[in-house]
Amino acid sequence: MEKRFCQATENNKDAILDVLKERFASVKVVFEIGSGTGQHAIHFAPQLEHLTWVTADMEVNHDTIKAWLTDFPSDNIDGPLVYEVGNSDWPVKGADAVFSANTAHIMHPEITRQMFYNVADNLPTGGVFCLYGPFNVDGQYTSEGNKSFDAHLAREGCGGIRDISELQSWVADKHLVLEERLAMPANNFLLVWRKQ
Ligand SMILES: C[S@@+](CC[C@H](N)C(=O)[O-])C[C@H]1O[C@@H](n2cnc3c(N)ncnc32)[C@H](O)[C@@H]1O
Repeated sequence: MEKRFCQATENNKDAILDVLKERFASVKVVFEIGSGTGQHAIHFAPQLEHLTWVTADMEVNHDTIKAWLTDFPSDNIDGPLVYEVGNSDWPVKGADAVFSANTAHIMHPEITRQMFYNVADNLPTGGVFCLYGPFNVDGQYTSEGNKSFDAHLAREGCGGIRDISELQSWVADKHLVLEERLAMPANNFLLVWRKQ
């Protein structure tokens, strides 16, 4: 099995975990959208023993997720489930939290919007959605680095960095409310959304 490695994921995992320990303190089941290599799941789950971490991604990434889960087994990790936003039904029951990192700028805007709809439609009242990545604020890049990164994303055919107000506009009438906008290292944010 192919175990892929992403340096950026290694770099941000501890800063993200510090936030999740608090925001997921009373959560039972976290559904992770776009688990990627699987590195986040195997780092987070053993340190969040009170919950079950459910990995998911498009099938093409399942080998690497399984390989990481095999080498770093944890009783409280499930999956990977097949979940492709825009093409899959919500595959998990009972998740009271959703986590996703570095997906909103990879997906095309209509798919990112669909991810927000799916999260809003499936989280129970009081459920929390933690979304990590680069975002623009009031139509502005937050760094020159993010501006260059966005140009790179466009060349790669990705959707690009979204503005936080755009995300809010998608779910304003779905009662998914941005509760916190936490500045993170490397000009990223961790956005904490709550289903009301
Ligand atoms: C840049 S990687 C981030 C991976 C991981 N979350 C991390 O932070 O290391 C983007 C991830 O989004 C996933 N992805 C892209 N489009 C998706 C879609 N429509 N539905 C679900 N996942 C998607 C990719 O398969 C990939 O794993």
